[in-house]
Amino acid sequence: MDRMGQMEEMLKTYNQEHILKLFQILTEEEKMKLIEQINNIDLHQIMELYDTTKKEIEIKENKIEEISYEDKAKMTNGRKEKLDELGEKIVKEGKYAVVTMAGGQGTRLEHPGPKGTFKLDIYGKGKYLFEILAENLKEANKKYGISIPWYIMTSNQNNKDTVEFLEKNNYFGYKREDVIIFTQGELPLIDMDGKILIGKDKMVRMGSDGNGGTFSSLRKSGALANMKERGVKWVFIGGVDNVLLKMVDTTLLGLAIEKNVQIASKSIVKANPHEKVGVFCKTNGHPKVIEYSELPEKMAEEVDDNGELKYGESHVMCNLFTIEAIEKVSKEPLIYHSAIKKNSYIDEQGKEVIPQEKNSYKFEAFIFDAFELFDDIAILRGKREEDFAPVKNKEGVDSPKTAKELYEKFWNR
Ligand code: UTP
Repeated sequence: MDRMGQMEEMLKTYNQEHILKLFQILTEEEKMKLIEQINNIDLHQIMELYDTTKKEIEIKENKIEEISYEDKAKMTNGRKEKLDELGEKIVKEGKYAVVTMAGGQGTRLEHPGPKGTFKLDIYGKGKYLFEILAENLKEANKKYGISIPWYIMTSNQNNKDTVEFLEKNNYFGYKREDVIIFTQGELPLIDMDGKILIGKDKMVRMGSDGNGGTFSSLRKSGALANMKERGVKWVFIGGVDNVLLKMVDTTLLGLAIEKNVQIASKSIVKANPHEKVGVFCKTNGHPKVIEYSELPEKMAEEVDDNGELKYGESHVMCNLFTIEAIEKVSKEPLIYHSAIKKNSYIDEQGKEVIPQEKNSYKFEAFIFDAFELFDDIAILRGKREEDFAPVKNKEGVDSPKTAKELYEKFWNR
């Protein structure tokens, strides 16, 4: 069978006949490019992932236990100073790096461009999300007399725009040699019937493989090797869209060092027992972030002797890993979750369709699925008003409006 015949067979096997129809209206060159791209896609994996979207989520019989944490607000000054000292030592010795995950699509915000290029309307002039992050790091650099290497993860979709934007803005004054941009892995987007979406460039539409893709992307891109070369021992990994994110929290780092663990995370207490957020717990003896849908209702309401929720520490994408921990996770396949998103595509006639409703699955690995690979984690409870102001939705909760209010309130204090 010739190459074209093989491709036809394969597309039929995996129910992708719509691509065969599309071939008929493509130019020879477009067709060849598309075939080459499809040849590099694991269609079997995509169909397996599609099948998982049809299965009921299985809630496993796990032994769920509460996890210990320390509340920053309740620490004595002496305790905080001791932890800060441990953390500061690492930072001052140049053994600390920061990763910003900026490969997401930011579909809910509907900003035309990478999320980090979104300008939040603060203090009249406004500030870009990347600018806010750069300021946070520059402040730490000044405080500790160093220059922290800043690794920015992009996706194939937004890498070019991100690089151009950062270039144009002179990396917001960050030392150029300490900004390392790397690109994450990706998987095809499929519609609700399992058909791969083709974009208006006549190529398969790909989506970044989730924030859990950070580990393998750090490894494959050479960023991990770069960290090792620089003598980095601890790596902070955070998102691009929390305008109160503290990327260099020496108390969190000190706590991890004192506890002698490889991973640490800042949590925020749930707004109420039934807030729809993932919370920390231990399952079968390992740290885990459990989805609200998997936490039995009674457990969600349980309180400890101090009247605090037993399962009240929500995960806010503020995580620390040792370099060894990153190396370990980067070798392990994390499971993919499916997210339903709005994505445009071309139909069999080659006409672009821009959906009004969510129409497709994107497959994503989650960063917190890595926690289960470890025996323990250090959790530091922060404060919502000091640590968490995400820009997720265009309007309503976690929107530019709420983030602006929280940001200005914090800095006006
Ligand atoms: P979210 O899961 O909130 O996704 O990402 P998002 O792409 O920003 O927004 P929606 O869901 O499409 O509206 C949390 C963090 O993880 C990063 C994002 O850039 C953000 O900093 N992320 C997410 C990646 O770096 N890669 C991904 O594949 C997904």
